[in-house]
Amino acid sequence: MSFLRTLGSSLNCKDIAVDLGTANTRVYSRGEGIVLNEPSVLAVNTATGAVIAVGKEAKGMMGRTPTGIAAIRPLKDGVSTDFEFTEKMLRYFIQKIHKHRSLARPQVVVSVPSGTTEVERRAVEEATVQAGAKSVLIIEEPLAAAIGAGLPIHESAGNMIVDIGAGTTEVAVVSLGGIVISQSARVGGDDIDQSIINHFKKYFQLLIGERTAESLKINIGSALPMGNDRLEDEVTGCDLVSGLPKSVLATEADIRRSVEEPVSRIVHVIKEALDRTPPELSSDITLTGMTLSGGGALLTGIAERIQDATGVQVLLAEDPLLCVAMGDGKCLEGFATMKNILTSSVT
Ligand SMILES: Nc1ncnc2c1ncn2[C@@H]1O[C@H](COP(=O)(O)OP(=O)(O)OP(=O)(O)O)[C@@H](O)[C@H]1O
Ligand SMILES: [Mg+2]
Repeated sequence: MSFLRTLGSSLNCKDIAVDLGTANTRVYSRGEGIVLNEPSVLAVNTATGAVIAVGKEAKGMMGRTPTGIAAIRPLKDGVSTDFEFTEKMLRYFIQKIHKHRSLARPQVVVSVPSGTTEVERRAVEEATVQAGAKSVLIIEEPLAAAIGAGLPIHESAGNMIVDIGAGTTEVAVVSLGGIVISQSARVGGDDIDQSIINHFKKYFQLLIGERTAESLKINIGSALPMGNDRLEDEVTGCDLVSGLPKSVLATEADIRRSVEEPVSRIVHVIKEALDRTPPELSSDITLTGMTLSGGGALLTGIAERIQDATGVQVLLAEDPLLCVAMGDGKCLEGFATMKNILTSSVT
């Protein structure tokens, strides 16, 4: 706590907050707002380990890299699976926004999924320090999402937030500035993309790439029939039998069927969380509803699907993709009132 007090007095305008997501990293800079929003991807020379591209440029290379270059996503399921490349990516992003500014090392607020182990949490802290941070404060992602979505987290009434990211779905009930219960599962947008890939392999003998699968999900995917039955998209991939390029026409119903399994897992996590919610807070949630954040919340029909399955009103946060980063940023800006919800392993 004494460390937090000292830190509070030394926060300055170059300090940043980082939402280190499985698919996207966002950086909020004190006094400025969100200054960086890029895919969590690196393109690397496989022989030397040298980084060739980071962020948008590296994502553009995914599935297209020649021999000797690999596109790497160093985070999986919201946690760092590749320490070295997580650090390199963070260092690149921190340097990018600190260009032309003071060389002093920034203090960094970083969010981690609520289900992370102590070891995984340490790895994120360590990578952030190695990437150039002077010190690191951690906030749990669902709390950041709730703050970013504008929920009144300090009130005694319970509020429910559901963040559906690329790697994890996190559900939390917050009250009096803290998480009362949380439920997290390693299922999200990446699993939906993978299910689409598997569907095309199984039913069309067609191998498609991750980016094609993601575009299909975004363009014609849905979690419930939404009356868009005539939506279709031409899908090009590699014929698994002949090895030659092949195109097929995919319908909205094809994609809906293919995403069913991960979508039901997401719904299941939410039902489990509701089941574990203490009765007083449950009745608050019945009145206020639950709020969805994260990119997965943008899947057509997901809000309706969750509402049908739970009977609780589902609201979509204003800018679902940016809620966590905005919440991290609000903690940085309002440090004096927010410090109780930040943790640090530095004593
Ligand atoms: N319009 C859309 N419809 C469906 N899915 C979408 C849409 N837009 C983005 N997504 C998906 O949202 C996911 C990215 O969301 P987000 O940026 O919140 O994840 P993340 O924070 O990187 O992941 P995590 O929080 O799990 O670490 C991707 O799987 C992406 O395909
Ligand atoms: Mg996220």
